[in-house]
Amino acid sequence: MYPVPVAGVRELLVTSGSTMAAVEVARQMSEGARNLSLSGHVGFDSMPDQLVNKSVCQGFCFNILCVGETGLGKSTLMDTLFNTRFEGDPAAHNQPGVHIKSNNYELQESNVRLKLSIVNSVGFGDQINKEESYKSIVEFIDAQFEAYLQEELKIKRTLHNYHDSRIHVCLYFIAPTGHSLKSLDLVTMKKLDSKVNIVPIIAKADSISKNELQKFKIKIMSELVSNGVQIYQFPTDDETVAEINGTMNAHLPFAVVGSTEEIKIGNKMMKARQYPWGTVQVENENHCDFVKLREMLIRVNMEDLREQTHARHYELYRRCKLEEMGFKDTDPDNKPFSLQETYEAKRNEFLGELQKKEEEMRQMFVMRVKEKESELKEAEKELHDKFDRLKKLHQDEKKKLEDKKKSLDDEINAFKQRKTAAELLQSQAQQSGSQQTLKRDKERKNNPWLCTE
Ligand code: GTP
Ligand code: MG
Repeated sequence: MYPVPVAGVRELLVTSGSTMAAVEVARQMSEGARNLSLSGHVGFDSMPDQLVNKSVCQGFCFNILCVGETGLGKSTLMDTLFNTRFEGDPAAHNQPGVHIKSNNYELQESNVRLKLSIVNSVGFGDQINKEESYKSIVEFIDAQFEAYLQEELKIKRTLHNYHDSRIHVCLYFIAPTGHSLKSLDLVTMKKLDSKVNIVPIIAKADSISKNELQKFKIKIMSELVSNGVQIYQFPTDDETVAEINGTMNAHLPFAVVGSTEEIKIGNKMMKARQYPWGTVQVENENHCDFVKLREMLIRVNMEDLREQTHARHYELYRRCKLEEMGFKDTDPDNKPFSLQETYEAKRNEFLGELQKKEEEMRQMFVMRVKEKESELKEAEKELHDKFDRLKKLHQDEKKKLEDKKKSLDDEINAFKQRKTAAELLQSQAQQSGSQQTLKRDKERKNNPWLCTE
């Protein structure tokens, strides 16, 4: 017994309290840590129980995205899977585009609480041009990753009670055509496969015969492989579930039937769909793969789906995003590059760019001022020229007017002189006329026989 290392390990386990820490300790222990035999009970064997208790207390969250054309039985399957009736009206079939609708529910089974989000791609496949159908789905998935990344990058993080809205599984509903996948299915799955765990399912499988179904399944899988679409594979690395998961992988895509209607079969009430020719039992494995889907999705692999979402899809998003922002782990010489160095380098780069921009703007400003100045000078010169022209015009006009005035004054003076002369002549004529009259009057007085003419 070596008391010091044991106490150290125990302390680490008790204070860490997280799965990751427990895994790390286990790894360290297997990689060269000394194996000790204890002489008495210490208590760290309760670690798994502590983790279970803590997780049960916190509750779990699981987010499902249903993608498939309208009316393929998505809502019915969700109701059947969780044995409840989620509210939700059927979608209209005349949507101009695809939009995402998310509903959150709180479910409880025994003492385990589950925060469940069911996200629907409303209007998927209803448009004449389906080229953009996948876009809003991809944007929604990225937006959830971005929200988580922003929370992670905060100085004050609250990840322990953060409402994780990242999509853990995408149930892709394939129409039971019996032929092959539609291009819309292939394009959408290809766009989604690096962002989410895709579980393809054949919807309304009761509308396709047993033989056709087998061929259809093989066709779908070969098309997915030939188009490089990566679907979620149930993990086979954990030996407790390796066998069942391995078997189930061979059954993909699951052909499912959904129904919330319960029918008495024997002395048991069972979920089924009744037809004039018979009854399809939802939970009968000879009728469809519903039970397989439920087992794989919820009972066996729910935690793996959550883990894959975090460790694979979110990690990829985070890496691309941080690289886009200029962060990297190694410098060009492949030496480790710390976050601090990256930050400093980015900051310097940013400051350099800022200075360059500032200088550019300053030069642009000076150039603009010079341009404006020369424009103003040009305008001023034009104004001066115009003023001079007008001034000269004005002077010429003035001179002309003065000349005219002078000639008019001369005319007036000449007229006045002529007028005075005429008046003088007229008065002289009047005077001489009156003198002659007087003389004639005098002569008539003196000689009355003189007759007048
Ligand atoms: P939207 O929300 O409008 O996109 O439809 P949905 O995909 O949610 O389909 P919904 O669950 O509303 O089902 C549409 C119709 O299909 C209903 O009449 C269901 O009863 C029927 N239906 C659902 N599941 C199955 C099934 O497995 N087989 C058959 N034959 N019909 C089903
Ligand atoms: Mg629906």
